[in-house]
Amino acid sequence: MKKVVLGTIAAAMLATSSFAADYVMKISHVVSDNTPKGMAANFLEKRIEELTGGKIDVQVFPNSQLYGDADEMKALAMNNVQLIMPSLSKFPSIVPQIQLFDLPFLFRDKEHLYKVMDGEVGAKLKSFVDAKKQMKAFDYWDAGFKHFSSSKQAIINPDDAKGQKFRIQSSKVLEEQIKAIGGSPQILPFSEVYSALQQGVVDATENPLSNLWTKKFHEVQSSLTLSNHGYLGYLVVMNQKFWDKLPKDLQEKVSQAMKEATEFERKATEEDDAKIMTELKKYADESKRLEIYELTPEQVANWRKVMEEVYPKFYNVIGEDLIKKAIETK
Ligand code: LMR
Repeated sequence: MKKVVLGTIAAAMLATSSFAADYVMKISHVVSDNTPKGMAANFLEKRIEELTGGKIDVQVFPNSQLYGDADEMKALAMNNVQLIMPSLSKFPSIVPQIQLFDLPFLFRDKEHLYKVMDGEVGAKLKSFVDAKKQMKAFDYWDAGFKHFSSSKQAIINPDDAKGQKFRIQSSKVLEEQIKAIGGSPQILPFSEVYSALQQGVVDATENPLSNLWTKKFHEVQSSLTLSNHGYLGYLVVMNQKFWDKLPKDLQEKVSQAMKEATEFERKATEEDDAKIMTELKKYADESKRLEIYELTPEQVANWRKVMEEVYPKFYNVIGEDLIKKAIETK
């Protein structure tokens, strides 16, 4: 979908090309255009339209404009939107096993994470999604590791979380993770987080840097701890009927665009994290309204010990074997 003001000739050409589109693919997501996910959705729009010669008209709706957390899955199932990329923490009601990705301190680093996602464990989880027959799972996209922030007591040791109200995504693992550190978890849609933090409905939250920065959560928090305690990623899913209706040649073009978008998205996350860290430090120095804390290896070990207590509670839900396989992935 083109969003620029066009001259008469270009407008006429666009009208012809829109007219020529055989399919309209709406993409909806909840984050800003300038996050890695937002940029990759726009990349996908451009590449699918290019590769299909305009036969598929792709329209991207960011910032929960079309659908928010609560209704995007339903909208996809009803084919009111054709492609979404929800956070993995938002799949539990459909495929509870996906909560594997929410287990705190599961991944040693990005290399380990990608091996799990793109290997046997990731494929198994995608097969559970496909088995539901309403949506087709494509690739995993990345948002990065999460960090705690708060407007109350800075969260440096697990004890600091006691009594604080935390905004979480809709995942039982995240609920148990917050309870394990003595906090009170509250599920809220992403679109409501800023005002909930500003108005003190919740004190604290956990986000990857891109979401914190682009939604300005740091402006309504007094501390940020670079805790890297958990992970936030996405699964790109398409309405199954929409996919089935596409002719084989267009399916191939969409798959090709998707492959390129995944590479683009993961690279953007890497670059973005470093850039945002610099900006956040500058903001903290200049405004004096945010303290940024790094953890010592001993402090990380403390967090790990307390949070890993959550794992056995989910052996039956996720599968103990799958968790072990993820941990042992080399
Ligand atoms: C959140 O709700 O915090 C995230 O899932 C938002 C997103 O899509 O990154």
